[in-house]
Amino acid sequence: MSDSYTRPKGTQDLLPGDQAYWDFVRATVVDLARAYGFERIDTPLFEETALFARGVGEATDIVEKEMYSFRDKGERELTLRPEFTAGVVRAYIENGLRVLPKPVKLYSMGPAFRYEQPQAGRYRQFHQFNAEIFGIEDPLADLEIMLLAWDIYAALGFQNLSFQLNSTGCPKCRPEYVATLASYYHAHAGEICEDCQRRLETNPLRVLDCKQRQCQPIIEAAPKITDHLCEECRQHFERLRGHLDDLGKPYTINSRLVRGLDYYTKTVFEVWAEGIGAQSAVCGGGRYDGLMELLDGPPTPAVGFAAGLERAVLVMQHQQVEPPALPIPPVYVAYLDKRTRSRAVQLLVRIREAGIGAQIAMSGSLRSQLRHADKRGARFVLILGEDELDRGEVTVKDLGSEGAQQAVPLAEIVPWLEARLEEA
Ligand code: HAM
Repeated sequence: MSDSYTRPKGTQDLLPGDQAYWDFVRATVVDLARAYGFERIDTPLFEETALFARGVGEATDIVEKEMYSFRDKGERELTLRPEFTAGVVRAYIENGLRVLPKPVKLYSMGPAFRYEQPQAGRYRQFHQFNAEIFGIEDPLADLEIMLLAWDIYAALGFQNLSFQLNSTGCPKCRPEYVATLASYYHAHAGEICEDCQRRLETNPLRVLDCKQRQCQPIIEAAPKITDHLCEECRQHFERLRGHLDDLGKPYTINSRLVRGLDYYTKTVFEVWAEGIGAQSAVCGGGRYDGLMELLDGPPTPAVGFAAGLERAVLVMQHQQVEPPALPIPPVYVAYLDKRTRSRAVQLLVRIREAGIGAQIAMSGSLRSQLRHADKRGARFVLILGEDELDRGEVTVKDLGSEGAQQAVPLAEIVPWLEARLEEA
């Protein structure tokens, strides 16, 4: 047994020094989601395992290999959510959200769990911002989802963004394409990796996603789904592209983009950004018009995406985007000894009651208290000693102007601080 505990493989501790990035990312996504008319929904961290097996798809990597599933004390089969969409759709059905005026625009944010091989940008516990639009068949909803995704990364200050875009067809046209793809692959059975040979039987579209070098020439020459779309899917794709062209948003048609979840129909997309090596997708999503029915709900067209927050932070760091500094309490209360300490606590409480951020020294000589105040980034140190108390005053050291000191009557300290902080 090791002599100290370590965090579980694939998880992270987000330390105080990381939090400015996280606050900025979380605030940016929430502000934009609200500005674009999305409302928040929170669903449980775990759901019935069957929901994900059905919703995400039995033959996906997520369901086959990556779920944190367990049986609880009541013998229920449960799974920590590997993604949000299935849970949000379940909540939509269960809570009768179908009665709301369309579109219903929902967002969520929180941790998700996948048992994956950890690497930069890939963790076992990670965080997603997730957005969905329910009830609209028109590609305008796809555009709205893509614009939210794009604008989030633009607001975070990312450079060199691009959309990867594809259509995965629908139950009318996809089976024929899958059959064409499968017969092409069968003709190359000797040249593809073992994983692809297996996928060919379980989930043929996923062969297009294979990263093995030996499979690349086969994928390059494979039939493209965009050449096999039915009229409805073709028009949907064209109209979405028309909107993107009108707005001048750069995108690349990527016929290998099939995504790792089975529920997609028509549009699929990702946003790629520089900064996370091979894991260049900062977000991904698409349309899933059949999922609601698959989960026993009313037929409802839907489109959405999810953004990995760890990846957003990694790209910020790689592209040297500085988040705004977190607020620091401007006041630090220091004191000389035990007698002045209890008065210092009273002073601290008075300042906080006035709505001014303040902290108090908890140990050490006055010298070390002053050093601590400086390290903590305080603007004003209020020093209480015997002499000051006798005079009914407090000494204020302004760390923002080279430590200039002045005495301020105790009775006037709150308005004095308010005036100075206003100026700052
Ligand atoms: P996804 O592509 O599986 O889609 O995940 C979306 C994003 O979550 C990825 O682009 C990535 O940024 C992040 N992500 C996924 N797995 C990990 C991981 N192991 N570690 C770190 N980040 C990760 C979905 O989850 C769909 N539910 C998106 C969606 C919503 N489609 C329609 N609505």
